[in-house]
Amino acid sequence: MPQSMLKSVTGPADWRAQFPALQGQMNGRPLAFLDSAASAQKPQAVLDKVMGTLSGYYANIHRGLYEYSQRTTAEFEAVRGKMAKFLNAKSQNEIVFTSNSTDAINLVAHAWGLHYLHADDEVILTEMEHHAGIVPWHLLRDLTGIVIKYIPVTQEGELDLSKLESLLTKKTRLVSFVHISNALGTVNPAEQIVAQVRAYNPDIKILIDGSQSAVHMPVDVQKLGCDWFVCTGHKLYGPTGVGVLWGRGETLLKMPPYKGGGDMIERVTLQGIKYREPPQRFEAGTPPIVEVIGLGAAIDFMESIGWDAITAHEHALSEQLFKRLSARKDLRIIGTSPNRAGIVSFLMHGAASADVGMILDKCGVAVRTGHHCCQPLLGVFGIEGTIRASLALYSNESDIDSLEEALDKAGKMLA
Ligand SMILES: Cc1ncc(COP(=O)(O)O)c(C=O)c1O
Repeated sequence: MPQSMLKSVTGPADWRAQFPALQGQMNGRPLAFLDSAASAQKPQAVLDKVMGTLSGYYANIHRGLYEYSQRTTAEFEAVRGKMAKFLNAKSQNEIVFTSNSTDAINLVAHAWGLHYLHADDEVILTEMEHHAGIVPWHLLRDLTGIVIKYIPVTQEGELDLSKLESLLTKKTRLVSFVHISNALGTVNPAEQIVAQVRAYNPDIKILIDGSQSAVHMPVDVQKLGCDWFVCTGHKLYGPTGVGVLWGRGETLLKMPPYKGGGDMIERVTLQGIKYREPPQRFEAGTPPIVEVIGLGAAIDFMESIGWDAITAHEHALSEQLFKRLSARKDLRIIGTSPNRAGIVSFLMHGAASADVGMILDKCGVAVRTGHHCCQPLLGVFGIEGTIRASLALYSNESDIDSLEEALDKAGKMLA
């Protein structure tokens, strides 16, 4: 019997016990893993599912008439249904598997953008975007001549929505924004932004980058009212190599394919091609089969704990992290919005972030240092990078204790 089936998942300590990597050491010290915003650790249930699929009944999907292929196909397609439920999509046909969030945004920029946007059409992004939410639109601008505008960010690290009205024009075709900032932890008021855009012009398309939000809060794409929502498997306790694009059914139907190849066609002749309906139209070639199935196990794991328990634990812990770091005289917090998730960015006075990061590493504390793929955002604060501590459902108070002890040590050595 897989190890994961023997354990009951009842409280935060039990949740943590499900993650083998967290039981390890780093530099001979117990690991305090505070870099889940970059990528989350994987529970035993996901590891078991991945290994069980590969060693049990693995075969390519949608193709074989034999039992292995049929079973793998059924498991893969069942995850489409799980993701639809997880995001409260109307139909599982609105769930497109991609290789990550980046791929999902590129899919929208190319399949929709290249087809529907023309020179001088306007796209509104925010200064808070991850590079994955900026670069695809720059590539599209180079191809089409679209104009890119940005909602500014305040010194508290919030979107300055008072500027949105003046950015919206008759030429606006798309508004795309990050749900939770990976660099600052700010939770953006997504429904309010969608309502403001829709009130101006209901035909403007809206994309929400949920790479950080899908793991920290329940997402209801119908309630959000956007046209696309993207998330990425490895931040959701699932494997790398799999992402999800949710698209409104009627919007996906009007989008031509992004990549061409096997499995996305109805019929190919030497003269022409009839494409399949969404979502298969957007899934050319052999998809990340095992990764999708592993992601399904990650969703099951999260659902076995439940959002009420996850959000209560993470909320309490992230308040503690923010308060404790804010109280320190040796740090400057970057991003002080009260609407926040378990991500805190900071600088240590008189010390380079990379040096602090290296000392933390020696103390067994894993944090991220650098620009977090948000160079324009850090530019708003006049800085090049930060130290970032981020939480997940397996984080606990002793991780924060370890961080503070390591910061004390770094302070003594560097400041
Ligand atoms: C807000 C945000 N958007 C997009 C991405 C890109 O995710 P991926 O690298 O999995 O495509 C990340 C990853 O850090 C992110 O935090």
